[in-house]
Amino acid sequence: MPTSWLDTVVRQTRRVSDMPYPHWASIFLNNPVRRVIGRPGTVIDGLMLGGDERVLEIGPGPGYYSTEIAKRVPHGRLHLFDVQPQMLGKARRAVEAAGCRNVESHSGDAGAGLPFPEATFDVAFLAAVLGEVPDKEICIRGLARVLRPGGLLVFVEGFGDPDRQSVQTLRELVEPHGFVLQGWEGTTWRDVVRFRLWPPL
Ligand SMILES: C[S@@+](CC[C@H](N)C(=O)[O-])C[C@H]1O[C@@H](n2cnc3c(N)ncnc32)[C@H](O)[C@@H]1O
Repeated sequence: MPTSWLDTVVRQTRRVSDMPYPHWASIFLNNPVRRVIGRPGTVIDGLMLGGDERVLEIGPGPGYYSTEIAKRVPHGRLHLFDVQPQMLGKARRAVEAAGCRNVESHSGDAGAGLPFPEATFDVAFLAAVLGEVPDKEICIRGLARVLRPGGLLVFVEGFGDPDRQSVQTLRELVEPHGFVLQGWEGTTWRDVVRFRLWPPL
């Protein structure tokens, strides 16, 4: 498994705290080095968003991916959902600084259910989050409920993350809930794994 000094720092910040990843250490998530290596814009480009989607991002942290998503759905809406209100505050400030006004935030535990009506979203996005969610089964059931049929569920799992979920684990978790593997891109740094909720529209 490839590692770097940055992975090591991120791992240590997680070790000194219980889950979730501590908001006070968000500087290690939203830093220029990770941005250059991780290229969040490229990851979001790969989702081929049309511009009017309703997107749910669970566990945005300080908004590392959120600004990239918000910019690509100018006629849609991005809903941020995080268990730590402090993280939501940071993410909101980041998207607002990027000039995006199409964002809402909600605080809660994804492992306790998602407070949205059925079939609300076209896309759900989780980067380095699922491993921290205490009840993954409830989280996935919630995602299957709030995504529309044919909706896209995307996981990004970074190497070096102590809570990283393998592609096999993701498949075992989501496929019983009606999701079908649509694609998977692995690089030195991360896996991006895409599922569709069956049946497609
Ligand atoms: C390791 S950080 C990743 C942040 C961001 N996605 C990124 O890649 O930079 C995990 C995030 O998930 C959130 N989180 C952890 N458990 C959660 C839960 N049960 N429900 C909602 N959010 C959760 C944390 O508060 C944190 O913001």
